[in-house]
Amino acid sequence: MSNIKLDYQTSGISEKEIMRYKEKVARIHKQMHEKSTDEKKFLGWLDLPTNYDRKEFERIKKAANRIRKTSDVFVVIGIGGSYLGASAVIEALTHTFFNEIDRKKRKAPEIIFAGNNISSSYIHDILDYIQDKDISINVISKSGTTTEPAIAFRIFREVLETKYGIEEARKRIYVTTDAHRGALKSLSDNEGYESFVIPDNIGGRYSVLTAVGLLPIATAGIDIEKLMQGALLAQEKYSDSNLKYNECYKYAVIRNILYRLLKNTEILVNYEPKLHYFTEWWKQLFGESEGKEQKGIFPAGVDFTTDLHSMGQYIQEGRRNLFETVINIEKTKNDMKIKIDEDNVDGLNFLAGKTIDYINKKAMQGTIEAHVSGDVPNIVLNIEKLDAENIGGMIYFFEKACAMSGFILGINPFDQPGVEAYKKNMFRLLGKPGYDDE
Ligand code: PA5
Repeated sequence: MSNIKLDYQTSGISEKEIMRYKEKVARIHKQMHEKSTDEKKFLGWLDLPTNYDRKEFERIKKAANRIRKTSDVFVVIGIGGSYLGASAVIEALTHTFFNEIDRKKRKAPEIIFAGNNISSSYIHDILDYIQDKDISINVISKSGTTTEPAIAFRIFREVLETKYGIEEARKRIYVTTDAHRGALKSLSDNEGYESFVIPDNIGGRYSVLTAVGLLPIATAGIDIEKLMQGALLAQEKYSDSNLKYNECYKYAVIRNILYRLLKNTEILVNYEPKLHYFTEWWKQLFGESEGKEQKGIFPAGVDFTTDLHSMGQYIQEGRRNLFETVINIEKTKNDMKIKIDEDNVDGLNFLAGKTIDYINKKAMQGTIEAHVSGDVPNIVLNIEKLDAENIGGMIYFFEKACAMSGFILGINPFDQPGVEAYKKNMFRLLGKPGYDDE
């Protein structure tokens, strides 16, 4: 059962202040759900948990099983919204050392992400690492033209064709792209690769619950039915237009109130290292959605308690433009007790009998108290446990909160015009036809 509880007691924002946004939120809700905004072209994720292609979903499960049987390594090629969601879910729900543990225990190929940078040493090291292994690849690009994954795909495709021959390579290449357009679509049609669709009305950073995320996630052995089930529960839970009863919208409103109080940096905090990539996914979702027209909350992230020893000082005493959103996983899976030590040289016997998770939770409480007293408002999201349903629910929660928050801010949360600037310069510097100096 998906179970996310919002606690904003330590945010300094009252229910009364939140409820001042009631009408605005109801209006935006109506526009989103009636898909009457200009951005309706990008609202496909809103009812995705009830409205997805069942046949393709079955095909994803079959392809994942095939890849699991035939491959030691699955190379997932994509950047931004075309890899962060899969990376987040796989890291959150598998063994911390997923790629390193014995294959028999993992029961899946290793998953390696590529095409998310232009580092030759990164590509070289993957090629070096996989040379004696059986591989399959999934190239993911909605536009089909993004430079980073296109370069990686050209290289890995050649490796596969050399290793297995053209015919066998074709069986090991999976393409996730637009249904009709783009270079990748044409190539895929010509070569006869098995391909999956990124729906037209779902943008990259909202696409983790489509084939974009589902194929790599299923290949890692995660139950994608449960993931979708969690998202479905969240879809139902956050469908109330009344702000009073909708915690997802409350989170969006609190962020906007804090922003108006000049708290323009939000730090997503976790106390579970498995959520590191969830934070990376969240950063992209909010950063690319809200950062435009010289507006937007800057999304940052920390892994605590690790980063209390690097970023803790700044958060406690640096510029006072910060607020934190803490993800609290209530029940941990593998807790363990501190034992009594007769010598007690380390002086830790006061912790004997307590569990590691108990200590982690006290660190969390102590940190929230300290940061709040240092004028850093804290919002807490309590998640019952880390499982596929809850991760599905969290994905939906943040996607919807992001859209609501962006509309409250007065920007279009579904485009990313600013991303083109670096590309234009890079292409000009590389001499790409059509990008010459003027
Ligand atoms: O959210 C987005 O739209 C972007 O981050 C894209 O996912 C990213 O730029 C990759 O684009 P594409 O899937 O077209 O290769």
